[in-house]
Amino acid sequence: AATAELIKALPKAELHLHIEGSLEPELMMALAAKHHVTLPYATIDDVRRAYNFDNLQSFLDLYYLGASVLRDEDDFYRLMWDYLCKCKEDKVVHAEIMFDPQTHTERGIGFEVFMPGFMRAIAQAEKEWGQSTLLIMSFLRHLSEESAFETLEAAQPYLSMITAVGLDSSELGNPPQKFARVFAKAKSLGLLRVAHAGEEGPAEYIWSALNDLDVHRIDHGVRSVDDPALMQTLAQKQMPLTVCPLSNIKLCVFSHMREHNILSLLDSGLLVTVNADDPSYFGGYLNDNYHALAAHLPITQEQIKTLAANSFKASFLAQDKKALWI
Ligand code: HPA
Ligand code: ZN
Repeated sequence: AATAELIKALPKAELHLHIEGSLEPELMMALAAKHHVTLPYATIDDVRRAYNFDNLQSFLDLYYLGASVLRDEDDFYRLMWDYLCKCKEDKVVHAEIMFDPQTHTERGIGFEVFMPGFMRAIAQAEKEWGQSTLLIMSFLRHLSEESAFETLEAAQPYLSMITAVGLDSSELGNPPQKFARVFAKAKSLGLLRVAHAGEEGPAEYIWSALNDLDVHRIDHGVRSVDDPALMQTLAQKQMPLTVCPLSNIKLCVFSHMREHNILSLLDSGLLVTVNADDPSYFGGYLNDNYHALAAHLPITQEQIKTLAANSFKASFLAQDKKALWI
């Protein structure tokens, strides 16, 4: 009970959250009806029952299908608003939120539709309760380098609203170096950089994210334990890992939460954080991820406080703002 109270009371930052992965089944069904989109689900329970994944790809297939109901500015506003209300509930005082432009531009829905929707919700939450947010534009790595360049080009009028670029979607066969030139261009435009690496992919992909993309954080990174030299480098650089416990279990990266390596990453001196990834698909928002760790691992209250403090340390907030929360 004391641990539950602590999790609830601690101010936290969320650093690895895909806004499209916060689309709850209720909103998905409502938007499908609104836009006359046919989904292979008759009821909300059908949607929930479908969320049984064998690996990353089996999840991504349903994630892109779900996102197909997002059509107009108001849909993107509602998606962002619902997530920001969860932040308020979970004491996520700062959120660095990823969005996947290509999931929408590939369907003919452009930046001029989703950006105003996102920004309207962000401004409202900031005004109503002081919510702090920033945006990370993520490239889909199963698509071409050319498509990523086109996305960066289309984002040009919106760069003042975007802090960083990221890299997500199908990891195996799509190593970070495929996007080295795109990330170099993003860097030259003043954008910060993160990349998913070492979720399903090998430790070499984490090296590639560091060396070829010049990232400030690794998203997931749990496969780093396979490479002692990499572990040493990550610890020495204090390179943040945005670990997503419930995601890792749902996507069978670990067979059970008891098997999760987050405590050994922490014990090795890495800058580890806890994050929700795709909360509506993986069974919980940020506090649920902390609760799941507390339920299945021998985590101490001190370690929980360290994880929350790390989330601010690893954030893109200015040093003086970080200091308010650490
Ligand atoms: N991994 C890769 N791609 C993704 C994820 C993830 O966890 N969530 C949404 N797109
Ligand atoms: Zn992710």
